[in-house]
Amino acid sequence: MSTVNQPAWLVPEPFLDEPLGLLRPGKEAQIDLIRRTGADGSSCLLVQKRYVPRTVSAKGELESLGIERASAFRHDVQYREGRQFRKTRDRRAVERMSAYGRRLMQDRWTGHEHRVMSALWETGLRVPYPVSYTEDTFVLQYVGDPDGAAPQLARAQLGPRELADAAHQLEAGLALMVGEGWVHGDLSAYNLLWWEGELWFIDFPQALDLAANPQGLNFLHRDVTNVAQWFTQKGHPIDGEALFASLL
Ligand SMILES: Nc1ncnc2c1ncn2[C@@H]1O[C@H](COP(=O)(O)OP(=O)(O)OP(=O)(O)O)[C@@H](O)[C@H]1O
Ligand SMILES: [Mg+2]
Repeated sequence: MSTVNQPAWLVPEPFLDEPLGLLRPGKEAQIDLIRRTGADGSSCLLVQKRYVPRTVSAKGELESLGIERASAFRHDVQYREGRQFRKTRDRRAVERMSAYGRRLMQDRWTGHEHRVMSALWETGLRVPYPVSYTEDTFVLQYVGDPDGAAPQLARAQLGPRELADAAHQLEAGLALMVGEGWVHGDLSAYNLLWWEGELWFIDFPQALDLAANPQGLNFLHRDVTNVAQWFTQKGHPIDGEALFASLL
């Protein structure tokens, strides 16, 4: 029986959220499992992704946090190029880390992920349903059952036929995503879940607009070669360059 989820968006308001524990601590986000119970007593399991708050308040502070954070920040600006910072004023605010710039950055985490996943869900790509977001949390469909969450593809034990099936679903999913003009931007066997024979795409805060972002094709190439290499190492060869070319 498939217990992936009851449609979370059907739980009538007002609802109550009960934390069921940490699914995964993350570098950038903490993933909690919650049970949402609606006014009529119906309930469903959901995932709450809480972004680690960015405590940085000035550029100097950012540098004092060390190279890793500083480069993550530069990375961030690069990702956002041509997406929401078309206005020079906004770009400068982020570079200077002004209060306004920080608010723009915060929105990156939840608002952007919600927008991208909504657009992709509409196209039929298998992504968890994006339920809602606030400044620092994002609530989405849980992939798994009461006994446990779906494993990351990297940790799922796939036989040769399942691996071929996953590769097929990956290629179809990429075609759908690129067809809609989106690049995941951090695609790997850790940001794909495997559940009851289906491949789920997750983790989209850094997703970028292929047409608007001058780095779009580079990120797409990196995504594609990265996952192609993983499949190849696992015994299902995928020609990353050919796949990349076919997507364009
Ligand atoms: N909707 C979901 N259903 C089940 N498990 C999930 C779901 N979303 C996330 N997870 C689990 O939490 C992990 C981290 O989620 P995600 O990739 O979205 O965040 P992250 O910012 O990449 O965190 P990290 O940097 O630790 O990987 C996933 O690899 C997966 O194991
Ligand atoms: Mg991830």
